[in-house]
Amino acid sequence: MVKLQMTMTQLKPILSHLDAIRSTPGKFKADKYSPLFRFRLLSVPKLTLWSILFLILILLFFLFSPPTTPNPSRRALQTTSWGGSTWEHRVRISARTVSKTRRTVLVTGAAGFVGFHVSAALKRRGDGVVGLDNFNAYYDIGLKEGRKALLEKSGVFIVEGDINDGALLRKLFDIVAFTHVMHLAAQAGVRYAMQNPSSYIHSNIAGFVNLLEVCKSATIQPAIIWASSSSVYGLNSEVPFSEKDRTDQPASLYAATKKADEGIAHAYNHIYGLSITGLRFFTVYGPWGRPDMAYFFFTRDILKGKPIMIYEGSDHGTVARDFTYIDDVVKGCLRALDTAKKSTGSGGKRKGSAQLRIYNLGNTSPVPVSELVSKLEKLLKVKAKKKVVTMPRNGDVMYTHANISLAQKELGYKPTTDLETGLKKFVKWYLKYYDSKKKKSAW
Ligand SMILES: NC(=O)c1ccc[n+]([C@@H]2O[C@H](COP(=O)([O-])OP(=O)(O)OC[C@H]3O[C@@H](n4cnc5c(N)ncnc54)[C@H](O)[C@@H]3O)[C@@H](O)[C@H]2O)c1
Repeated sequence: MVKLQMTMTQLKPILSHLDAIRSTPGKFKADKYSPLFRFRLLSVPKLTLWSILFLILILLFFLFSPPTTPNPSRRALQTTSWGGSTWEHRVRISARTVSKTRRTVLVTGAAGFVGFHVSAALKRRGDGVVGLDNFNAYYDIGLKEGRKALLEKSGVFIVEGDINDGALLRKLFDIVAFTHVMHLAAQAGVRYAMQNPSSYIHSNIAGFVNLLEVCKSATIQPAIIWASSSSVYGLNSEVPFSEKDRTDQPASLYAATKKADEGIAHAYNHIYGLSITGLRFFTVYGPWGRPDMAYFFFTRDILKGKPIMIYEGSDHGTVARDFTYIDDVVKGCLRALDTAKKSTGSGGKRKGSAQLRIYNLGNTSPVPVSELVSKLEKLLKVKAKKKVVTMPRNGDVMYTHANISLAQKELGYKPTTDLETGLKKFVKWYLKYYDSKKKKSAW
């Protein structure tokens, strides 16, 4: 642009000179207002010079305009902050393991709610951890930055980048021979799919495939543990939800992408020998949680004195969720990682059959949303302004309830936090976090 402006400055005298050039006199005098008269004003030499100038301008425009990309979503994954020796050094340091098991884990979505807690827990026990997150603005980036700062203090470096960026992923695998990938990056939330459906395809479908492509091509293929969702049970009315139940009636695009991911995982396991474990999380809550989830925005709105909407079925049926505390989910993730067998392929070639698993990670005790609100009122010591409305058809389901016997048997998964205890911890964190933010902004 600077160059273009300089060129325009240089061109100005030429332009004014051109304006001063007289047009060649014609053989007959045309009427002042006729088209012929106007044509005469742009007589041949002047017209030629203007055309040359015009061509120069077009040329300059093409020379200095940014390159066009065939796919608009590529823009979102042009991350500038990776590469270079300092960056590589940070990746290596972060991946250093001090545990006997020598595990090095790539955690995608590390700046997210679950990714943050899982990364911290892996690091605490001595595993090497490298985070990856694109820090998208689906919700307050301040929360993601806060989680990142805390992880950095404990020695986890989060690479800023998109799981669709193949070059970045390959670079990470060149630097570190990851033994495991804990894949938690996704476009979460069921309702947002009505506003921005393509973000679900970008992160949950294209991103997942891209990640698996890089994993399958690695010389030492990592074992993959990834987050599916209880939402795959969709309109299934059999409760509690068991891994054997049907999952072909998704109620949202989000659920449909997670269901598709389960199929994609099956294909990559089958063709390339990748060891893959899917975890169906049930409404995870806790400190550093996601502001788009009801327990979080109810807390915010109750404190602000704003009315909150409580959904009920069209027949006044109760809406309930199997709220699962973050620490329990983290334990489940770590147990899944510890019991994952190695992938069998290498460099894109299968060398034998590999493990393929799917587990429910829930709490096994659904709580009506009205009860969640009563518990929050008690903890916050504020009465909520409740508005009971019929649940709109926006992707939500009436009821979730996990059968966790498979995870119990094979992973030793055993949730221990009830909603009362978990909410107390969440509220304590919430008040402290937003209070300190308020104080900082008052400075
Ligand atoms: N929290 C729950 O209750 C719940 C329930 C079921 C399933 N899940 C699944 O668990 C996982 C973690 O969920 P969460 O609650 O921590 O969500 P979150 O939104 O807090 O975390 C996801 C992170 O992934 C990142 N991300 C999204 N797209 C990306 C991309 N293309 N490249 C790189 N990073 C990207 C986001 O910036 C975010 O930080 C997700 O897969 C989600 O679908 C969560």
